[in-house]
Amino acid sequence: MSIAVIGTGYVGLVSGTCFTEMGFDVTCIDKDQTKISRLKKAQIPIYEPGLKELVKKNMRAGRLSFTDNLKTGVKDAKTIFIAVGTPTSENDGSADLSYVFAAAREIAAHIENDSVVVIKSTVPLGTSRKVKGIIAKANPRLKFHVVSNPEFLREGRAVKDFLQPDRVIIGVDSEKSLAAMQRIYQPMISENIPVIFTDLETSELTKYAANAFLAAKIAFINEMADLCDKSGANIDDVSHGMGLDPRIGKDYLKTGPGFGGSCFPKDTLALRKIAFDLGAESEIVESVIAANDKRKIAMAKKIIKANGEVKGKTIAALGLTFKADTDDVRASAALTIIPELVKNGAKVRVYDPHGMNNARKVLSGAIEWCDDVTQALKGADSAVIITEWREFAEMDLAKVKSLLKKPLLVDLRNLFHPGDMKKAGFNYISLGREAVLQGAETRNRKPEARKKA
Ligand code: UGA
Repeated sequence: MSIAVIGTGYVGLVSGTCFTEMGFDVTCIDKDQTKISRLKKAQIPIYEPGLKELVKKNMRAGRLSFTDNLKTGVKDAKTIFIAVGTPTSENDGSADLSYVFAAAREIAAHIENDSVVVIKSTVPLGTSRKVKGIIAKANPRLKFHVVSNPEFLREGRAVKDFLQPDRVIIGVDSEKSLAAMQRIYQPMISENIPVIFTDLETSELTKYAANAFLAAKIAFINEMADLCDKSGANIDDVSHGMGLDPRIGKDYLKTGPGFGGSCFPKDTLALRKIAFDLGAESEIVESVIAANDKRKIAMAKKIIKANGEVKGKTIAALGLTFKADTDDVRASAALTIIPELVKNGAKVRVYDPHGMNNARKVLSGAIEWCDDVTQALKGADSAVIITEWREFAEMDLAKVKSLLKKPLLVDLRNLFHPGDMKKAGFNYISLGREAVLQGAETRNRKPEARKKA
């Protein structure tokens, strides 16, 4: 069975490649000729662990191909996935659907009767129906089906998330499209992975609701971390204690500098706009957006406060990507924090294991681009960890201390234990763990030990 995937961004390239891994023949289509000619040589435009190997393997097996020609790309495919970008519109925060609609218009002339068009891009409620209208208008005689099948993969673990998902959500409005999607997801249905069939709008909203809820969890724990700093409580223990309740769950309770990436910031804005357009309230989503924007600025202020002032000082900034294991810097906290430090007169030395190229396109000013951690730290007045790369968590602390002018480390990912850092002679500032520095180190002690203490 042949599948066509339009768009070779994160979602398109990973989905297309993983469908070949599931045994289908896939053609990935993109207008970007340079990207396609590189993909034909198995050169992957993104840093995504495990993806390159799968692309190579399935190209060799003759299951995966790439083209910039939409007509030939969709020729043999009965199922066409639209996985193009839906960036935030400049004017009102809504999802820009122009790429989705353009793809729909273009395929209309080239697909066969009974084709199934699947929207994998994250799109607002009602988009699948609009796509239906666009195709019907462009080719009135065509018999086709439109399906909504949002993607829940995370950057950095995209392949695993795609092939072993927690669930698959599929919105359909016909028996034929239901049967077609059952055939595609049969390998997962056989593995007892929940594959949920619903209507088009419910499927579209489920995607936004999931992302907005996870974003809310992060915004909430960040608020608790601030409260910990004021009250002397310990955020690690609060998260742990909350997360053990299965109704809450332990994931997405890690405090940090504010969520970033191409999804949570974009999708919360879009969900707010969807609610507004429908005349529904979105107070929670509204506060999540505002709290997260404020947090990134607050992180810059925290660094400035820790340094007394940053004017004329050199700060080493470790990490530029919005999280570890990706080269993506979109809406990364670093993109707010670093310009704020520069604005306040600091010179910022930056280093990231994989994010340098993308960051160079968007950061400017008094920035020194470093080749490694040592170069960034050497002679700097202080350091700040912005992204939780393993390389930073495994730094030799004695070396870090010897490289810095003063042993001041602001850690916005809580990579180290405050007690250990104090012993190592650091002025260590992290999130929501002031109490540990004051000596309240009870974490992970056995109950007996606690009783005696
Ligand atoms: C997110 C969702 O997790 C995916 O399920 C979804 O498919 C994807 O968006 C999308 O819509 O395409 P992703 O953007 O790759 O995936 O990133 P996450 O790993 O979810 O992290 C998002 C942000 O939250 C990062 O800045 C991360 O550092 C932050 N975060 C995450 C925290 O601050 N604390 C946490 O406990 C977890």
